[in-house]
Amino acid sequence: MPQSAKKPFIDVLSGQRQSTPPMWMMRQAGRYLPEYREVRAKAGGFLDLCFNPELAAEVTLQPIRRFGFDAAIIFSDILVIPYALGRSVRFEVGEGPRLDPLDDPAKVATLMRRADFGKLEPVFEALRIVRSALDPKVALIGFCGAPWTVATYMVAGQGTPDQAPARMMAYRHPEAFAEIIDALVENSIQYLLAQLDAGANALQIFDTWAGVLPPAEFARWSVEPTRRIIEGVRAKVPDAKIIGFPRGAGALLPGYVEATGVNAVSIDWTAEPAFIRERVQSKVAVQGNLDPLALIAGGAALDRAVDDVLTNFAQGRLIFNLGHGIQPETPIAHVEQMIKRVRDGRG
Ligand code: CP3
Repeated sequence: MPQSAKKPFIDVLSGQRQSTPPMWMMRQAGRYLPEYREVRAKAGGFLDLCFNPELAAEVTLQPIRRFGFDAAIIFSDILVIPYALGRSVRFEVGEGPRLDPLDDPAKVATLMRRADFGKLEPVFEALRIVRSALDPKVALIGFCGAPWTVATYMVAGQGTPDQAPARMMAYRHPEAFAEIIDALVENSIQYLLAQLDAGANALQIFDTWAGVLPPAEFARWSVEPTRRIIEGVRAKVPDAKIIGFPRGAGALLPGYVEATGVNAVSIDWTAEPAFIRERVQSKVAVQGNLDPLALIAGGAALDRAVDDVLTNFAQGRLIFNLGHGIQPETPIAHVEQMIKRVRDGRG
């Protein structure tokens, strides 16, 4: 049975350390790859690429073919959920996402409660195509944004340096803000379950903006909604493997792990190694945490940065990754250098 073949990536999430850590990169399908840029130009807009099953499957597979990573992540975006909730979502070239701001209680009252999952059918079709094309040893990751992070874009209508509009709305109109969060929790559960059904072997919940919240707000808007999503997914799929990425959570990470029930946390490059080993990696697997800038720099600085990640975390359950997404200007030769060092050095 090919699909049941052992996957080192899944084994780590199940609690078994691998002598060579499995690896992939956040944003591994993207603009640093010439073959991605070619498909992207052919597809038209960014959302057109996300919703074209053949092309989305193709760009998902590109980094696997080129680098032999242990996991593929389905090519899509966290903002397809607001799109399926009827919000207008556009990606301006060179500027990032633009949505119609959902910034007062009257607007929230008009928000759809159930997403139109028919709009997301191309994502599920892309997952099926990728899963059938992938080597059984390679895992397929589905994902969604955490409600807090998705809400920050829905409220502001765009990315901002510190997501102040959503933080402000959560203080001024907590009930209306909670309605947005609740809609995102419910629909994210259905979305993740549908991705598992379409062939995803594991899930990641991206909370890119977790680090801008004070502890009490973090508990309410980041931890608790994530906990509810995981509870909802596991009510149907009890052994679902789930990675959390509460970027910038710092000292609040152990509490996040305990409360949410994630199998792993993705950590950024600012994490303090001894703290992570003792308070986090002793409980769950750790994913990370190379600085994407070290990958751009290359040379001896990259070698040192890779060695640091291995020295800090490879004695325990580790999935080697970056601390955040790979940047478009990253040289491909540096990615190859990183992979060689992770796979040759240890074993
Ligand atoms: O990792 C992968 O290869 C899978 C695909 C993926 C994308 N976005 C594709 C994408 C994933 C997992 C995401 C998640 C995502 N999207 C997050 C959370 C992770 C993170 O990076 O913090 C967030 C905050 C978004 C929202 C989003 N999408 C922003 C802010 C932007 C603009 C920034 C940018 O890099 O341009 C996007 C666009 C986007 N999503 C691109 C890609 C490859 C670039 C658009 C393009 O190719 O034209």
